[in-house]
Amino acid sequence: MLKGKHIILGITGGIAAYKSVSLLRLLVKAGAEVQVVITPAGKEFITPVTLSALSGKPVVSEFFTANTGEWHSHVDLGLWADCMVIAPATASSIAKMANGVADNMLITTYLSAKSPVFIAPAMDLDMMAHPSTRRNIEALRSYGNHIIEPESGFLASGLIGKGRMEEPEKIVEVLDRFFEKIENQSLAGKKVLITAGPTYEAIDPVRFIGNYSSGKMGYALAAEAARRGAEVVLVSGPVSLPAPEGNVTRVDVTSAREMLTACEKVFDEADVAIFCAAVADYAPEHVADHKIKRGDMPEMTLKLVRNPDIAATLGARRHGGQTLVGFALETDDEMVNGRSKLERKHLDMVVINSMRDAGAGFSGDTNKITVVTAAGDEKSFPLKSKTEVAADIIDCIENISR
Ligand code: PMT
Repeated sequence: MLKGKHIILGITGGIAAYKSVSLLRLLVKAGAEVQVVITPAGKEFITPVTLSALSGKPVVSEFFTANTGEWHSHVDLGLWADCMVIAPATASSIAKMANGVADNMLITTYLSAKSPVFIAPAMDLDMMAHPSTRRNIEALRSYGNHIIEPESGFLASGLIGKGRMEEPEKIVEVLDRFFEKIENQSLAGKKVLITAGPTYEAIDPVRFIGNYSSGKMGYALAAEAARRGAEVVLVSGPVSLPAPEGNVTRVDVTSAREMLTACEKVFDEADVAIFCAAVADYAPEHVADHKIKRGDMPEMTLKLVRNPDIAATLGARRHGGQTLVGFALETDDEMVNGRSKLERKHLDMVVINSMRDAGAGFSGDTNKITVVTAAGDEKSFPLKSKTEVAADIIDCIENISR
């Protein structure tokens, strides 16, 4: 999968930089064209001569070559790459990447990269466990970067713990799997319906009942399905996100009833339907045609009526060959409630996320999920960026659709 791929290998100044030499060799052996970008501190650990000999390219480290004045364009490099791998990534470089401190060529290249970025941290166990490092790593994850978690084991300090950079062979495997998913176009020829965002239920011309859904989870799913070759119809409640790139038709709706109507138009042809929207269960019975005045009413009662359950309505009329996936956003009894939704809504899989987990659920860039299938399988995932969570969910869908 790596044959012909343009890869930027970013090396920062840590003892694990010695492993970057093996990583470079493996990438070149796999047929990748590798451009090494190294920080000034990185050069204290391995020499550019070794790296340029193995990559067959001059190593980039400074913004320009001192004796000729030749400018090294981080923008061009960022555009050239199919992916960027930063291994090892020290605590200091991670902090700079997380906060946009563009004081060396590697960080400017990272900030300019349009391609997926993989980051393999390496440091002493206490640095790794420090809240500032954890926060910076979570920030990078939330930007959609892929974190290749370090292993536990013997560290250069002589201590034992989590902080060893993942082995070069494993890093190559991660990259290989990533490109395999994209290039296999495993969802080519499939139509995928996805609901995303909140619904707004009007009270009067200026007020509504809504919720905190940002649409990020549903949009990440749409982007991932499109990346894998699917034709995606994204039925979206009111959000402020741009439509994902690729073969995605976005249908904007406001209320639950509008969302149901839009979904009904495409449901029968859909091979997969993912109900990720946070749909209001109730709507005001009457919508005032003018702004309701405060007047001197000491209190006010709104009569609400049940909205249609989109997932359950469509689940009841599903046909063979379709895969239906719902979400369950819970605050308690997560597994019991999630399983009950799976059955009641005739779903093949339910993705449970809990408001009790920090970083999960609404609005943020991360989520933590447990997937339960109708066949009884159950799999929990750690906190990840919504981009990564979307890839995990689509992997699970592909497994049950086989
Ligand atoms: O948009 P983000 O800010 O990224 O947040 C993501 C998310 C938290 C909204 C998402 O991960 C999520 O959990 N979505 C479902 C939220 C929800 O409404 O859960 P629920 O447990 O109330 O509903 C269960 C399932 O039935 C869901 O698939 C929902 O889309 C569907 N449903 C619910 C009510 C209704 N009237 N019609 C429906 O189709």
